[in-house]
Amino acid sequence: AQDKRESLYVLSAWAGKFFVEQLWKSEMGQAIGLNYFKERGYREDIIKKFELGYSPEEWTALVDKAQEAGFHPDYLAASGLAIERDDKSLYDRFRGRVMFPIHNLTGRIIGFGGRTLKTDKKVAKYVNSPESEIYHKSDVLYGLNFAKKAIMEEDNCYLVEGYADVLSVHQAGVENVVSSSGTSLTTGQIKLISRFTKNVTILYDGDEAGIKASLRGTDMLLEEGLNVKVLLFPDGNDPDSYVQKFGATAFKDYVKSHQQDFIFYKTSILLRDANNDPIKRAEVIRDVVESIALIPDEIKVSVFIRECSSLLDIEERILLAELNKIRLNKAKKA
Ligand code: CTP
Ligand code: MN
Ligand code: MN
Ligand code: MN
Ligand code: MN
Repeated sequence: AQDKRESLYVLSAWAGKFFVEQLWKSEMGQAIGLNYFKERGYREDIIKKFELGYSPEEWTALVDKAQEAGFHPDYLAASGLAIERDDKSLYDRFRGRVMFPIHNLTGRIIGFGGRTLKTDKKVAKYVNSPESEIYHKSDVLYGLNFAKKAIMEEDNCYLVEGYADVLSVHQAGVENVVSSSGTSLTTGQIKLISRFTKNVTILYDGDEAGIKASLRGTDMLLEEGLNVKVLLFPDGNDPDSYVQKFGATAFKDYVKSHQQDFIFYKTSILLRDANNDPIKRAEVIRDVVESIALIPDEIKVSVFIRECSSLLDIEERILLAELNKIRLNKAKKA
């Protein structure tokens, strides 16, 4: 099994090189792929650092080259780079896409994300490697290998939604940034972050999906005892579009002045949606207190209770009574 994993690492590294070569050396790679990255504002040093690539718009470009290079078809299928037809023949998973290799903590390639260049809404925007013996989606944060040093130095980790966000924010000089690649956070990813810092700032897309994602998965961060701050970007922007439009300085200023503690953020989002409806307001209060109840640090809990009492315009003792009720229920269940 160790041999198989090692072979998958070697194949993934080879494929990474193949896509990079296609991007810089092939006619289509340059005209379509490299041009795309440059149009999006990525500098050459960033394109090289993140080993971005291009997959030819052909059915078996990689499969053929890999087999010539001596890779066994079983490994091509096991890595997810190739897809097996019913008749056992293989074709490339990634075709005509710009490629983002996904690295593990030691910098070895374990999978890929490929973005379409088509604007057709019927084509999946991203195609990703499936799970394999070396790629476990729920244990990976995109960009962590490039970010870990800065995360420790800054004692803070920025969490964004996508590949493009990691690239643009990193390029802007904010290198302590990672992405959960569109899925909500997992406990594995949270454990990974907490090896490097206890402070997380969530920078999600300013759309409905981003707001939803920022409220999901976040309770797990609190339970792990992490300090969580959140901010959303305005007018449907994401960190990538914001920093590319307004520049690095404006981006850093925006983050500094708009980040909010998660509990206050959650309270204000929920209150906004409750629209002064008294029954909904009652639900908001319960929901917020439920989040506070997850925080292991008692001092922080009492600070949040006090602040939320004024935000929610409700007496502290009522929030405390609710908090105790939630904790008692939990203790009973446990
Ligand atoms: N994603 C995915 N499959 C999709 C759509 C999204 O895997 N069909 C993941 C990708 O990792 C993507 C992230 O979710 O980076 C965030 O999605 P989205 O905000 O829609 O894409 P962006 O990262 O903003 O991509 P781009 O700027 O290239 O449009
Ligand atoms: Mn494993
Ligand atoms: Mn989005
Ligand atoms: Mn984007
Ligand atoms: Mn986005």
